Amino acid sequence: MSDPPSASPFRLLRRTLLAWFQKNKRSLPFRESSDAWSVWVSEVMLQQTRVEAMLPRYRAFLAGFPDPGSLAAASADEVLAAWAGLGYYGRARALHRAARRLAAEGRGVPQNAASLRRLPGIGEYTAAAIASISFKEPVAAVDGNVRRVLSRLFAVGGVRGRAPFEGRIRELADRLMEADDAREPGDWNQALMELGATVCTATGPRCDRCPVREFCWARLGGKPEEFPERPPPRPTDSVRLAMAVVRDPEGRILVFRRRESPMRGLYELPCGECRSGESAEDALVRETAANYGIRLRPAREFPGFRHTVMQRRIAVVPFEANLVEPASAGAVSGARFVRPKDLDRIPSGSMLRKALARVGSTRQGSEVRPDAAGSLPGSLD
Ligand code: ADE
Repeated sequence: MSDPPSASPFRLLRRTLLAWFQKNKRSLPFRESSDAWSVWVSEVMLQQTRVEAMLPRYRAFLAGFPDPGSLAAASADEVLAAWAGLGYYGRARALHRAARRLAAEGRGVPQNAASLRRLPGIGEYTAAAIASISFKEPVAAVDGNVRRVLSRLFAVGGVRGRAPFEGRIRELADRLMEADDAREPGDWNQALMELGATVCTATGPRCDRCPVREFCWARLGGKPEEFPERPPPRPTDSVRLAMAVVRDPEGRILVFRRRESPMRGLYELPCGECRSGESAEDALVRETAANYGIRLRPAREFPGFRHTVMQRRIAVVPFEANLVEPASAGAVSGARFVRPKDLDRIPSGSMLRKALARVGSTRQGSEVRPDAAGSLPGSLD
């Protein structure tokens, strides 16, 4: 697939968009260096998290773990705590496993896409992004933004995720990467991503601001926003979850370590799903007995909130509750009482934070002693 020297529209398109990117790119911390570890961490965080949401975590994570060796030396809890709030914790676990594998084998970050791809948590896109940005390997990195941009520029029909659409997008991405002697592969990949993130967005393409509008077939057709075709809507899985904030006499909060995916290894408040027609209060008592072996007495219900985890919509009904048999709580497997001020030190999901924001992490009154040295088994003291 060679391009005629100067007339190739691929080459012209590539040059135009690349020049736009180099002049207009957002100044982002992960663009300050092409160090492979920093690029790797940024790409993993960006897989399911928006740039604005990942930035504070990104800086803190790299400050704590400036290279794969420091991550390999950390405990699973430390890694999960540093990932708190970003969601999709499987990404953090895979990054940790990958760093440990490199440490065990005594090597640094692999320097090409094929070897990167063999590490846990690195798929085709991430391998290509790291290899092109850090090692200038000419491999196309195709993420959601790039799919959308290419489907519009070339009016590619078909539904995302299906073979005809994906095959055509891949072919175009490869041809564009190769055009103009595959110059500046990292910047080229990021130029497509940047256009998708800032101009050719999912909801409202701003064609008047687009540097490559003259090349765009979807714009010529008048309905760029109709590309790519949307897949038929999936039935949404939605549940009601009753959740309890339970305090011991010292004001510490009862949490359990999750054993199942998703969110395995994170701490959660005792909770359980409501059956159809069942009150949240009844569900709380029934489910927490079944799931954690505790007997709860709900004391007060608080306003609910919505939360989405892995495409699952959850309506959370938070309660303040008491243990019917307080003495037994410390002996329950996986249970731990945590002082409110220590909650930031344990790995937990944002549902726990949201519930505590509703119910309040400290109780009004004098029962909470700020520096109470607790003696219950499993406490953080
Ligand atoms: N999304 C994922 N990686 C990105 C990058 N390097 N630049 C812009 N958007 C991105």
